[in-house]
Amino acid sequence: MDGDLGALLRRLEHRKLERLEKDSETYKIMERVFDTSTLLTLYRMINRGVMEFFYGAVSTGKEANIFCALDREGNYVAVKIYRVATSNFKNMHRYLSGDPRFGRIPKKRREIVHAWTSREFKNLQRAYEAGVPVPRPIDCEKNVLAMEFVGENGVPYPRMKDVPPREPERAFDKLVDAVKTLYREAGIVHSDLSEYNVLLAPDPVLIDFSMGTDRANPAAEELLTRDLDKLTRYFRKLGVDVPPLEQLLEEISGV
Ligand SMILES: Nc1ncnc2c1ncn2[C@@H]1O[C@H](COP(=O)(O)OP(=O)(O)O)[C@@H](O)[C@H]1O
Ligand SMILES: [Mg+2]
Repeated sequence: MDGDLGALLRRLEHRKLERLEKDSETYKIMERVFDTSTLLTLYRMINRGVMEFFYGAVSTGKEANIFCALDREGNYVAVKIYRVATSNFKNMHRYLSGDPRFGRIPKKRREIVHAWTSREFKNLQRAYEAGVPVPRPIDCEKNVLAMEFVGENGVPYPRMKDVPPREPERAFDKLVDAVKTLYREAGIVHSDLSEYNVLLAPDPVLIDFSMGTDRANPAAEELLTRDLDKLTRYFRKLGVDVPPLEQLLEEISGV
């Protein structure tokens, strides 16, 4: 088995790293992110045709790294890899526990991270099927999630935090629509919505659904209020005549 595994990893290593220089930033990050289990998961994804090879590192976040990959047809794929060793799994456990979709929440670090990844994928699926502007979910296994790449030539579209929308009124309306469809049709509250998790394509695309929770979560109303509060603050600063929070809440949740 040891020999097989070694050969497998070398093969993967070859396919995955063939385009990277040893001293490149991407290579250094990859060495840290990819434990054996993650390499095997990626290997299976490559064999499923989800992607062919890695193209570069896009983002290093608190819990996850995002990479850009290419599939066989040359389409860009975003690959989000939750780090098992360095993620805040206690926080993850806490946030998973209010979600009625998860009955028994695992205790082990690795299993919690897998549940966390799978929740993000399920959220993306529900949102995408409901027609909310989100990256199309492609595949998910263990701590790895593959989705449509929202950008051009391997460069993500800017976050709303970095580049304010050219037509703020339009962007605001689109976002309120998105939150409403997400709530009513998909039954989800994003729960981490802010200018950091919106890409402008140039119309807004919602990303980062790991905190997304089922509408039946007892905390859903509070989380929705927080999401809307952040949105309205952001757009008010841009001079948009945003309605009062209560009115928006009523429009979206009917409460
Ligand atoms: N589907 C995607 N397509 C292109 N870029 C993406 C995609 N998802 C994430 N990114 C890039 O990675 C960054 C971090 O992604 P995010 O899901 O917000 O992770 P984090 O949990 O680290 O905040 C985004 O700001 C964006 O630049
Ligand atoms: Mg984010």
